[in-house]
Amino acid sequence: TDLEPLHSFRLHGKAHEVISLKHTSQLSALPQQAYILGEGSNTIFLGDFELPIVKVELKGLSVKESETHWQVTVGAGENWHHLVSELLNQGVLGLENLALIPGTVGAAPVQNIGAYGREVSEFIETVQAWDRQTKQLVEFSNQECNFGYRDSIFKKYAGRWLIVEVKFAIPKQWQPEVSYGELRALGTPVTAQQIFKEVIATRQRKLPAPEEIPNAGSFFKNPIVSLAELHQLLKKYPKMPHFDLGDNKVKLAAGWLIDNLGLKGFSIGQAAVHANQALVLVNLGGASATDLLLLARTVRSKVIEAYGVELEAEVRLLGRQGLITL
Ligand code: EPU
Repeated sequence: TDLEPLHSFRLHGKAHEVISLKHTSQLSALPQQAYILGEGSNTIFLGDFELPIVKVELKGLSVKESETHWQVTVGAGENWHHLVSELLNQGVLGLENLALIPGTVGAAPVQNIGAYGREVSEFIETVQAWDRQTKQLVEFSNQECNFGYRDSIFKKYAGRWLIVEVKFAIPKQWQPEVSYGELRALGTPVTAQQIFKEVIATRQRKLPAPEEIPNAGSFFKNPIVSLAELHQLLKKYPKMPHFDLGDNKVKLAAGWLIDNLGLKGFSIGQAAVHANQALVLVNLGGASATDLLLLARTVRSKVIEAYGVELEAEVRLLGRQGLITL
């Protein structure tokens, strides 16, 4: 099978085998070694792939209510943005800051998707997953998911659990979140619809649409440094954006670090730094894995050289037999 349509960065390659997972009755028969894939919006296949790929297509959406919360149960294979807009239509408000994030519902907890001041972990009650080691269904409480910035237990032990279903608990008492960047201009009072629209407009302005310019969203994670490191950096770069995480830790904007080196639009072969958002690498058409890796490693070393900060990949990079690091 051709790998190109299975991932949004669209590099060429062949898959050995692709299994569509449409029903939980298939779980116990899945091969021991396999790669679990949703819509492929955060995974880059760097070439041919030897392991079987399990494409999660489990569907279903139900909304129940308690006195204080909406309880939303969703199949892992549902599209994330479709869920956000569907809930908004039904008057279930809260996920609007996470509009237009590509990918499936089951992938959302894996890397704890986040944008514009919200992270999905704030709304997750439990995650139901198939334990591929013990071959049984298990339920993780929010705490047990060990959520962090773009992190969770499912990412740490990639491959052990296959997420089947996610249960959200969304407070009926809606609280707008408009403290991040361009949302601040909305002010209050504000409606969830307005936030939804503004997030979509902002994303469309800055982020390349994967259907038009293949990409996998942020290629790198925003690096976390100590306060002491920040103070050193600010001496040389007084305008460097930073976000205090408490506990002596600060998050830097990798997009700014790259942009500030004049690298917007920088390309190697057919792989390039996106012209409107330096954190996103794009495939200009027919890029090779060599182009992409060379570009990513060049950006990474220029950032180390200029700031002494090491960028880590946010996307999952897959070599012939599994995950690789940059
Ligand atoms: N910036 C620049 N130049 C750039 C890019 C950014 O100067 O080319 C500056 C911005 O002006 C801003 C700061 O860097 O001061 C942060 O930029 P932005 O708000 O665009 O967000 P980001 O930190 O680059 C993160 C997420 C995005 C998410 C946005 C909005 C990560 C790795 N990325 O990007 O998530 O949409 O915040 O909340 O945390 C993704 O994960 O794929 C993704 C797109």
